[in-house]
Amino acid sequence: MNSSTPASLNSSEKQELIALLEERERRKRRRKLFEVYPDTGPLRRGLYPKHLQFFAAGTEHQERAAVAANRVGKSFGLGGFETALHLTGLYPQWWPGRRFDHPVDVWAAGDTSETTRDIPQLILMGAPGEYGTGLIPGDKIAGNPTHRAGVAQAVDTVRIAHASGGMSMLGFKSYDQGRKKFQGTAKHLIWLDEEPPEDVYSECMARLMTTNGMMICTFTPLEGLSNVVLKYMPEMAPTVSNEPLLRPDRLG
Ligand SMILES: Nc1ncnc2c1ncn2[C@@H]1O[C@H](COP(=O)(O)OP(=O)(O)OP(=O)(O)O)[C@@H](O)[C@H]1O
Ligand SMILES: [Mg+2]
Repeated sequence: MNSSTPASLNSSEKQELIALLEERERRKRRRKLFEVYPDTGPLRRGLYPKHLQFFAAGTEHQERAAVAANRVGKSFGLGGFETALHLTGLYPQWWPGRRFDHPVDVWAAGDTSETTRDIPQLILMGAPGEYGTGLIPGDKIAGNPTHRAGVAQAVDTVRIAHASGGMSMLGFKSYDQGRKKFQGTAKHLIWLDEEPPEDVYSECMARLMTTNGMMICTFTPLEGLSNVVLKYMPEMAPTVSNEPLLRPDRLG
């Protein structure tokens, strides 16, 4: 047997090897962003033409929505992935979408504080206690996030190191806070995961006006043809007929 095989290691060398393997695994878990949409393999990006189309549409459209079925990769594969790229500026070489060359101010929001914590926050930051294992690489999370009062482990804001050398800012919000909580400063990107009420949507658009910022929505249309859905699919609006229900010539 070759003298460098693990079987020939003494116990302290084995301990060292185990520690090195664990450290390699730990680092890998904190670099998830670089493993999504690979060139090859079972999860290769060639299998996701609609997702790539959604990214590319960002070069032309200020507002984009993935209004799609459950479990097709809306939150992780679209909203979460794109948000992590803009926050960090770590665009892969194949990226077909819009690029910001400066730090960005971003909101990610969901229905309630709890769902925002359990979906967009989990996707971007990783589980509480393991921040850095989500799509934002661990070494890009700068300092400790601030947390929301009254909701266990819900992040309020967190600073993210941007490739330009500056700091992006990520804030989490939820629709149940009401429209007024969406007033405030300008944003470069807002990601709304789950369908927003119309007034929240409009308030968010106002936050994007001065920056020519981007709106990304990812949801399954549980509310049917709501006004927010109709903004994106006006052709689905029910047509109103001018025909009277009872034509006078048919009366009596
Ligand atoms: N591009 C991808 N590469 C690898 N895994 C992915 C990708 N997209 C999604 N996944 C995996 O599939 C799971 C479901 O994806 P995601 O949460 O984005 O779906 P969704 O459409 O938002 O679902 P829901 O309808 O529940 O909101 C994720 O937890 C993630 O692990
Ligand atoms: Mg989702």
